[in-house]
Amino acid sequence: MCGIVGYIGQRQAYDILIGGLHRLEYRGYDSAGVALINAEDQLNVYKAKGKVADLETAAAGKDCSGTVGIAHTRWATHGEPSVRNAHPHVSDSGNLVIVHNGIIENYTILRKQLAKKGFTFKSDTDTEVLVQLIQYAQDKHKCPLAEAVRHALNKCIGAYAIAVLDRRDPGTLVVARKGSPLVVGIGKDNSEFFVASDATPIAGYTQNVVYLDDEQIAVCQPGKELKIIDLKNKKVDVSVKQIDMDLDMLDRGGFPHFMLKEIFDQPRCLRDCMSGRLFDDKVILSAVRNNRARLLSATRFIIVACGTSWHAGLIGKQLIEHYCKIPVEVDYASEFRYRDPVILPTDVVIAISQSGETADTLAAIKLAKERGAFIFGIVNAVGSSIARETDTGIYIHVGPEIGVASTKAFTGQLTCLTLLALALANAKGTVDHDEFVSLTKELGQIPDKIDKLLKENDCIKQLARTYTYATNFLYLGRGWNYPVALEGALKLKEISYIHAEGYPAAEMKHGPIALVDNMMPVLFVATHHEGYEKVVSNMQEVKARGGRIIAVVTEGDTEVQKIADEVINVPSTLAPLAPLLTVIPLQLLAYHIAVEKGLDVDQPRNLAKSVTVE
Ligand code: F6R
Repeated sequence: MCGIVGYIGQRQAYDILIGGLHRLEYRGYDSAGVALINAEDQLNVYKAKGKVADLETAAAGKDCSGTVGIAHTRWATHGEPSVRNAHPHVSDSGNLVIVHNGIIENYTILRKQLAKKGFTFKSDTDTEVLVQLIQYAQDKHKCPLAEAVRHALNKCIGAYAIAVLDRRDPGTLVVARKGSPLVVGIGKDNSEFFVASDATPIAGYTQNVVYLDDEQIAVCQPGKELKIIDLKNKKVDVSVKQIDMDLDMLDRGGFPHFMLKEIFDQPRCLRDCMSGRLFDDKVILSAVRNNRARLLSATRFIIVACGTSWHAGLIGKQLIEHYCKIPVEVDYASEFRYRDPVILPTDVVIAISQSGETADTLAAIKLAKERGAFIFGIVNAVGSSIARETDTGIYIHVGPEIGVASTKAFTGQLTCLTLLALALANAKGTVDHDEFVSLTKELGQIPDKIDKLLKENDCIKQLARTYTYATNFLYLGRGWNYPVALEGALKLKEISYIHAEGYPAAEMKHGPIALVDNMMPVLFVATHHEGYEKVVSNMQEVKARGGRIIAVVTEGDTEVQKIADEVINVPSTLAPLAPLLTVIPLQLLAYHIAVEKGLDVDQPRNLAKSVTVE
């Protein structure tokens, strides 16, 4: 994971770098560091264990001048989180400095080889090995920095996004990527360059960006055009793209946490996601229109994703099977890629990802592509690695998601999957016209219904106070709401550190019911759809064993009122769209329990937003 930022130009770099780190802090927050070259070509490096704010404290009062610098916020892979292991790392000579996101897999052997040549190591990281290797290449070949970086990277196995500086050449910033994302922002007339793991730190300065591809090295020198070469030293054409980013999305906008803001953003985000795609009696997706023959001839869909995106995939399976009558499999990307899956050339693989950088999902689609499948992406981060690897796809268009716990991306993914199922079903003729129109009309109403549901926030906050005692939670749902139960449980455990299990309600009696006692809250998602009566029976079973019941029900429900200890009402909707509503109270419940417990909601321990390690 980790986030990297770099700047070279005329402005003072420190504030740009620190501002950038704050934007990227969602990628990791074990430690942070910054390196600057001042006007006397002196290299100043400051590091701190903890968050970017701790780095600011560590750097306060020190020489933070300089118009060129690099910075890093870390999610530890090799080496415990500590100042010693924090980036930037400096080479033995004291001249070269590097920040790195990724993993150099053959670092142990490289380290041994370098140690034999007399290099010493101050940290346990793979990154320090890389900077020493660059110094070794520079000494050996007597070459400019970019060339030394190229030599070194040719010896590395693994993934990297790096930014490197040489104190003796403060007019050059060299960056490179393979497997980890890297964006270069180009200032007016090439007067300055910005570098970052994603476009968010750059968006406030320039709209012109270049997304580096794997095995590319970029040389940023103010006053000169950006130069890109590949690992074989072949010049690469520079393709400048425009960032289209709403900067308001990058701030908390008056909310105490990004997560709460993003929960409340959902009505607006889903309207954006549907805009230009959903109409009363039709769904227009250019990805479907342009690949109609390939998609309609698919004999099977395979959805690959991780975490929350995998939960969205489980609902996607139901949508596509129900409306398009095509078999759908859903796989954890990490399992799919390692178990020699049967992939047919007639398969369509759907990759779902918020960040577009999840290593396992990326590897899964590369494998499927090699075996001839057609790859369709449902991705939020524009220009991300997964978006670029797919044959076609749709962007989720919910804006950057900063809170580590995914909320608006999940409902955006569900919206995209519904649009996709509808567009395919319409093209295949597998959906009845009236059913199609009632679904499109209802989908258009969902943002208003979420708006209404969000008015329950204060009640859910009250309710959350009652449950901070819990050390275990069970979440149960059926049919369309079963993946919602999984998602509700994941939200709770990742931000409140309360153990929570999501289960299909009917499976409870096959094991988990043994856990139920008066200390075990059981949350049922029990909307008025198929299987409702059965879920109510499961509730009775829990009640009989002294369990405490929280139920999410369709408004107007009177039956559950009699059984449950707490009831949260959601507006009535069609069954396939129920998850778009039922997940909202579960997001809010997890949020408020975590806040009540005084936890860091936006940056829960041990987690990072984008999982670029396998
Ligand atoms: C949970 C969460 C994670 C991600 C997972 C996949 O709140 O955010 O489970 O869903 O790491 O990430 P993406 O969607 O970026 O591929």
